[in-house]
This record gives sequence, C-alpha cells and structure tokens, in this order.
Amino acid sequence: MIPFSLSYSGRMAIALLLMLQATVTTASRNDGLAARMLESTIARGQGIYNTAAPTSLIELGIFQQALLETIRDAANSTQRTEWEAYLVRSTTSAISPLSNATADASLPLDRLSIGTALIHEYKSSQISDLIPAIHALTESVLLQQRNANGGLWYYANPTNISYYHNLSYLDGMFSSAPFAVIAAATTNVTTLHDAVGDANPFGRAAALEQLQLLYGICKQPSGLLVHGYDASITHNWSDPITGASPIVWGRSLAWYTLGVGNTLELLRSRRARLENTAGSDCSEARIGSIFTNITSAQIAVSEDGLQNTGQYGVWQVVDHPGESGNFIEASASCMTVYSLLRAIRLHLIEDPAMRSRAKTAALGIYRTVLGTFVTEAINGTLSLSGTSSVASLAGESIDYDYYVSRPTANDSLIGTSAFILASLEVERLA
Ligand SMILES: *[C@@H]1O[C@H](CO)[C@@H](O)[C@H](O)[C@H]1NC(C)=O
Ligand SMILES: *[C@@H]1O[C@H](CO)[C@@H](O)[C@H](O)[C@H]1NC(C)=O
Ligand SMILES: *[C@@H]1O[C@H](CO)[C@@H](O)[C@H](O)[C@H]1NC(C)=O
Ligand SMILES: *[C@@H]1O[C@H](CO)[C@@H](O)[C@H](O)[C@H]1NC(C)=O
Ligand SMILES: *[C@@H]1O[C@H](CO)[C@@H](O)[C@H](O)[C@H]1NC(C)=O
Ligand SMILES: *[C@@H]1O[C@H](CO)[C@@H](O)[C@H](O)[C@H]1NC(C)=O
Ligand SMILES: *[C@@H]1O[C@H](CO)[C@@H](O)[C@H](O)[C@H]1NC(C)=O
Ligand SMILES: *[C@@H]1O[C@H](CO)[C@@H](O)[C@H](O)[C@H]1NC(C)=O
Ligand SMILES: *[C@@H]1O[C@H](CO)[C@@H](O)[C@H](O)[C@H]1NC(C)=O
Repeated sequence: MIPFSLSYSGRMAIALLLMLQATVTTASRNDGLAARMLESTIARGQGIYNTAAPTSLIELGIFQQALLETIRDAANSTQRTEWEAYLVRSTTSAISPLSNATADASLPLDRLSIGTALIHEYKSSQISDLIPAIHALTESVLLQQRNANGGLWYYANPTNISYYHNLSYLDGMFSSAPFAVIAAATTNVTTLHDAVGDANPFGRAAALEQLQLLYGICKQPSGLLVHGYDASITHNWSDPITGASPIVWGRSLAWYTLGVGNTLELLRSRRARLENTAGSDCSEARIGSIFTNITSAQIAVSEDGLQNTGQYGVWQVVDHPGESGNFIEASASCMTVYSLLRAIRLHLIEDPAMRSRAKTAALGIYRTVLGTFVTEAINGTLSLSGTSSVASLAGESIDYDYYVSRPTANDSLIGTSAFILASLEVERLA
C-alpha cells in the first residue's frame, strides 16, 4: 500500500538504489535497436513533462512504459543506471503538474498512463515525493464525467465543453484500464471510494466495464473498432442510434489493444491478482476474450493489406489499405507489433494457428517500419518518421478525408516509444 503520509526520504532511496545497482555484474553494452532508439530519444531531451502538444500526456505515458521495459531487460549496469536516472527525472517531472486532483480531472484520461508509470516507479524506488501525484490522479478518476451508460468521457475540456462533452475514445483505454487495476492493487482506494460512495471505479471489473462499453458500441462487422462515440449524438458524424464515429483509425485501435494487453499483463502479476479479487468473477477471462477478438481482426486486416498492397503495415484508416490518400502509419504499426509479439510471449493468444499468423504479421509489419520509417544519422542517432499527429472527435468533419489528411511528424515520442517496445519484443525472440 502507498502510505498517505510521507515516510521516506526520496534522496536516500535513490542513493540506496544506485548502491545496489553498483554491485550488479557488468554485461556488455546493449546495442540493439530498442536501446539505441531509447538513447537517441534521451539525447533529443524528450520524455520530460511538457504541455507543448495536445498529446503530451499520452506521449509521456508510453515513453515511461518503454523506458521501464528497456530497464527491465538491461544487462549492462552502466546503461541501466543511466536509464534509471532518466526514469526518475521523467516521473518526478510530472509531480508538480499532476498533484491537484481537480486540475487533473480537467485533463484527458491520458494523464492516467503517467499515473501507472508513477506507481511502478514508486514500487521500485520508494521515492515518496511521487505519492501526492499518485493520490491526486487516483482521486481524479472519481471526478471524471461519465455518460448515462457509465462510460468515462475522454476529455472534459474546460475551455471547449460544447465540442468535447460526452465523447468516449478508444485512446482513453490505454491509460484508464490499466490504471484502474494497478491503483486498486496499490493505493488504499477503499478510503477514496467510501468517501464518494459511488460504484467502485477501480479494479478489474471497472476496467472491464469501460472496455466492454467501447467494444460494444465501436465494433464493426470486421471485428475492428471505430475511434469512439458521442453518447449525446450531438456531432453530425455520430451514428443516430449508437453515437459511434465512422472511421477505424489505426492509432486509436492500437491504443485500445495496448491498453487491454497492459491490463491483462498486470492482472497476471500475483499482487494485482490478489488485490483485485473481491470474490471471484470472470472479468479477466472476458478482457482476454476482447483481446483475442480484436487481435484476430487486426491480424486479418494486415493479411488483407498484404494481399492488396504487397506489404504488411497498419494503415491510417485501417480497413482501407492502399486507397487514395491512405498511408501506413508508424506509431500504430509499432504498437501493433508490440501487442502481437507480447501476446505470443505471455500466451494472451493461445490458439497455435493464430499465434503463428500473429508472429508472421508482426514481423512483417516490423520489417515495413524498418524499411520505411527508421533512419540513422552519421553519428549513429536513430530517427523514426511517419507518426500521425493528433486526430480528435471534437470537430465535425470526421470522415475518411479527415484522417488521411492528418500530417505526420518525425521523432514523435509516441512513435519512437512504440518502436522501442516493438524492438524489445523482436529482440526477445532472438
Ligand atoms: C556497459 O555499457 C557502458 C556504457 O555504454 C560501456 O562503457 C561499457 O563498456 C559496457 N560494459 C561492458 C562490459 O561492455
Ligand atoms: C486545484 O486546481 C483547482 C482547479 O484548477 C483550483 O481551483 C484550486 O485552487 C487548486 N488547488 C490548489 C490547492 O492549488
Ligand atoms: C452526458 O454527460 C453527462 C455528465 O456530465 C451525463 O449526465 C449525461 O447523462 C450524459 N449524456 C448521455 C446521453 O450520456
Ligand atoms: C484503507 O483505508 C481504510 C479506511 O480508512 C482502513 O480501514 C484500512 O485499514 C486501510 N487499509 C490498508 C491496507 O491500509
Ligand atoms: C469474441 O468472439 C467470440 C466468437 O465470435 C464470441 O463468442 C465472444 O463473445 C467474443 N467476445 C466478446 C468479449 O465479445
Ligand atoms: C547527431 O546527428 C543528428 C542528425 O544530424 C543531430 O540532430 C544530433 O544533434 C547529433 N547528435 C550528436 C550527439 O551530435
Ligand atoms: C472547440 O473545438 C472545436 C473542434 O475542435 C473547434 O472547431 C473550435 O474552434 C473550438 N473552440 C474553441 C473556443 O476553442
Ligand atoms: C458535418 O458538418 C461539417 C461542417 O459543417 C461538414 O463539413 C460535414 O460534411 C458534415 N458531415 C456530415 C456527415 O454531415
Ligand atoms: C522527416 O524524416 C524524413 C525521413 O527521414 C525526411 O525525409 C524529412 O525531411 C524529415 N522531415 C523533417 C521536417 O525533418
């Protein structure tokens, strides 16, 4: 449990951590693509809290996940110490901006992906300075606006509520579903929950509820999910009955799949399993079933794309590979590689035929990413091009042309972090 009062000295904890690491046997430097992209990202000074882009929160969340995962696999103690120090810098940079629950609730759900990273960091380093931000983020979940069906709004944007109200996005599940699980296992949410007396928004059942609402409304006959829905059916693009948006956007689907996979990985860790089992329920199995169904559809559409275009890749508009204006998008491609290969490693996909198709598709997509988006400067720095900028449901013209006309950026932290995660899985296969 994370104590509510400050009881550790953060500096001492860091000093102790460094001493422990100094005793680890040295191993040769990791020069894999994951490590090199991470070092290039650090050299660019990215991964520290900022508000420069509307996607800055989710960027930081996926960067911190990539950094944590790289540290987990690091054998060379010099590299690990450097990366640990950067993780401390990155996580502590979020303390001051995120320690007010009311202010947090005015940010997109994306903020909760940082909360998950803060909890992981707290557990390993005991840096007590992280606690106020963890608590504020946890409390902010109780303040999040909801639709009549219980679905969380993605973003109660206080400067533009008339365009943002009652929208739920797949993107939000990358952040909110794992946070619901890890917060229940880590902080004393009983206190918070009793204070409000609402339905418990933490734990595996709460994660499933949100995933299921989006899955039910956004699912297409192909098994792929559209970007989100407008519960109030106010926007002119919303389906008159369900509110669903019209287009399957690569990155939002990839965020959702990544969020479901992160949730399942957490539920498999023993502590989370114990803390989240209030009586027995079948939430984990149902989340697993969503994962299986979604990844099956993602594999099938990649195979169709290969047939129609001659290459694997995740297209900006997923189910229209090769059509006019459409393009293979770097970040969704990398996230999908990671989700599929991790699913094989953790047995989130069990069926042998599907495991084999997943591996072929993932490696095919990874090859496209290497051939199309990754470049190396003369000094060895790696770059990744081709990450789509933000796409929002707040506007009105949300159609095929909107998505394919989103500009792409180089070295977007979303794309490079997803590339690190994908490369780690490819390296784990070796
Ligand atoms: C570990 O990595 C450091 C930093 O890159 C490098 O200087 C050192 O030689 C590596 N250790 C070994 C045993 O290769
Ligand atoms: C927390 O944020 C809210 C909303 O931005 C603000 O009104 C309030 O004064 C802040 N509280 C503190 C203690 O800063
Ligand atoms: C829209 O959100 C508000 C919460 O702010 C909720 O009271 C209302 O029921 C929602 N409308 C629909 C149609 O879900
Ligand atoms: C959590 O908080 C409740 C209410 O304050 C308290 O009764 C309980 O002992 C706490 N549990 C833990 C494990 O700290
Ligand atoms: C996944 O697909 C199977 C087979 O079509 C279906 O029985 C199951 O209900 C689906 N899972 C979910 C969570 O909808
Ligand atoms: C390496 O080269 C890239 C691209 O030319 C440049 O942006 C970067 O500053 C260089 N890094 C170093 C450490 O010199
Ligand atoms: C609110 O958002 C909509 C959709 O993105 C945009 O067209 C409009 O200009 C925004 N209004 C304000 C006041 O920011
Ligand atoms: C919605 O409104 C926008 C802007 O007014 C318009 O460009 C678009 O064609 C409309 N879309 C639909 C589906 O009616
Ligand atoms: C982005 O990267 C691509 C591929 O390396 C390059 O051709 C392009 O000039 C870069 N764009 C900018 C704005 O740097």
